[in-house]
Amino acid sequence: SPDSTSNAKPISLTHYLIDEQRAGRVNADLRLLIEVVARACKTIAVAVGKGALGGVLGDAGTGNVQGEAQKKLDVIANDVLLEANAWGGHLAGLASEEMEHSQPIPDVYPRGNYLLLFDPLDGSSNIDVNVSVGTIFSVLHCPDGVNTPEDQHYLQAGTTQVAAGYCIYGPSTMMVLTVGNGTHAFTLDREHGSFILTQRGMMVPQETQEFAINMSNRRHWDAPMQHYVDDLLAGKDGVRGKDFNMRWIASMVADVHRILTRGGIFIYPWDRKDPSKPGKLRLMYEANPMSFLVEQAGGAATDGRTRIMDIAPSGLHQRVPVFLGSKKEVEEATRYHLKHD
Ligand code: AHG
Ligand code: MN
Ligand code: MN
Ligand code: MN
Repeated sequence: SPDSTSNAKPISLTHYLIDEQRAGRVNADLRLLIEVVARACKTIAVAVGKGALGGVLGDAGTGNVQGEAQKKLDVIANDVLLEANAWGGHLAGLASEEMEHSQPIPDVYPRGNYLLLFDPLDGSSNIDVNVSVGTIFSVLHCPDGVNTPEDQHYLQAGTTQVAAGYCIYGPSTMMVLTVGNGTHAFTLDREHGSFILTQRGMMVPQETQEFAINMSNRRHWDAPMQHYVDDLLAGKDGVRGKDFNMRWIASMVADVHRILTRGGIFIYPWDRKDPSKPGKLRLMYEANPMSFLVEQAGGAATDGRTRIMDIAPSGLHQRVPVFLGSKKEVEEATRYHLKHD
């Protein structure tokens, strides 16, 4: 049950990070960098929460390198994260879903040793309909001897991440974070403006009867995906011997948050709608950080065949099929693909 119901003194994100520093698991720079990201997320939460009153809904009228029409909030959230992180002194550079290339920290500010990658606003198709959206981030080391990082310096496997997290802007605003020592959830106390630890050591149940996928793409999937989902849908009457329920929010942050909370499998597979793309979701600022969080909570994440965090990235905006969540179910889905190869 959530810690918030106990009588213990609330532990803020700041307090949690200082404890992690004293335990030798984060250094002062990483701690302060996470604090800056959390502060930026609070600003984004305010903008998201204003909705139509803030004039923040709708299209920005621009496009991004992903070939997507940008929402106003995609651009606002990106600007907030850039502005908040530029002068902190903890970063060498940043990369974002909404920017074609990474940006080194401007020369006027001191440069730190970390690289920050983010999806400033995830689930942006949900903004205009008042459904949960989020921010996803991943922290890497800047390679030794690199003062002005370029795109190539960000191309490190997910296993090298030093921290990852997301902020979900839902009925409540929450930050879910890992620094490699479990996955923990913090809820924003709006009156006091601080994130409070409300779930220490999230654990994804190993087995599940719930899956999340956009079924409208079904006819575009490859054979192992068709077989796997046919067997889920056959439920008790099929080889799986149990019924499955389905959920699809179309905000990865919200779908993954549900899975971290009560289990499930989230899938965005390859499909032949656009064969040039090996999936919809982006390795560097969606798949890798979510995989780190899910693995730290006892779950698993693969691209249908290999562990996502083992993939050697070849491009900043590289896409990847994603299967993540309850460990036994991810292994089952992965088996269907390996059997077929
Ligand atoms: P983003 O809004 O950052 O571009 O990410 C979009 C994502 C992800 O949040 C979600 O899981 C998926 O796209 C939904 O895709 P469909 O609209 O194809 O269901
Ligand atoms: Mn997008
Ligand atoms: Mn996204
Ligand atoms: Mn986005």
